[in-house]
Amino acid sequence: MSVIKNKYEIININSIPSTNGFLKEHYEDFKEFTVLVCDNQTGGKGRMGRVWFSSSDNIAMSILLKPKSDINISNISLVVGASVFNVLNRYVNCSIKWPNDILSNDKKLCGILLEAISTNEIEAVICGIGININQTKFEKEIENKATSLKKLLNKDFDKVLIINEIVNSFDNLYTDFIKGNNSYMEIIRNNFYLKDKIGFINGNEEVKIIDIDEEGKLIVLRKNELKKLNSGEITLEKFYN
Ligand code: BTN
Repeated sequence: MSVIKNKYEIININSIPSTNGFLKEHYEDFKEFTVLVCDNQTGGKGRMGRVWFSSSDNIAMSILLKPKSDINISNISLVVGASVFNVLNRYVNCSIKWPNDILSNDKKLCGILLEAISTNEIEAVICGIGININQTKFEKEIENKATSLKKLLNKDFDKVLIINEIVNSFDNLYTDFIKGNNSYMEIIRNNFYLKDKIGFINGNEEVKIIDIDEEGKLIVLRKNELKKLNSGEITLEKFYN
């Protein structure tokens, strides 16, 4: 824990539109492993340009990374997903919906948004993590798709404790990842929500989801042949996207 305290600076801010947005704008002013936590995020960003509904009952945090150029940054989102999974799974049974949502009871408990800043090379990667902790009533648009620790277990949780657990868990897996040890991959594979489910490519062509490869691509069965896909190439209509 003391190593984590020296290495990670956790900054709490009362209210800003988005922790990702803030670090994107000010990444040069902060050192690597700064963790920005916001109690009242007013304009949270989700994947694919969606809105992320934030509430002070929940966790909104971003970790600033400044990775070396030889790092495969597309896999960092899997490292973050596996780190958060490791923590949430101590409290409730959950699984990872590739590329990086965490679900419990088929509903979304956590969403992750990675944003990279590059000029000629990658300058920074911002790992945004939103976790539903103590919220029990959700906005209409997501009320059938979202859940929280409190909704699942009917008690309140300590956000600060969970944030510290996530930073610890992330440090373990990210340190391994930098050294070339892909320990996160086993976690992703063993807790893979989409396994054997059906997805759609090219509009309405059905494929069966089989696995994830070492590069984090989805392996699907299409007309008796295995095919690898990136996240934009498949629709997972029946599940929370
Ligand atoms: C998604 O599932 O669409 C990703 C949601 C990511 C939300 C988090 S909350 C903290 C960070 N700041 C943001 O504006 N977004 C991410």
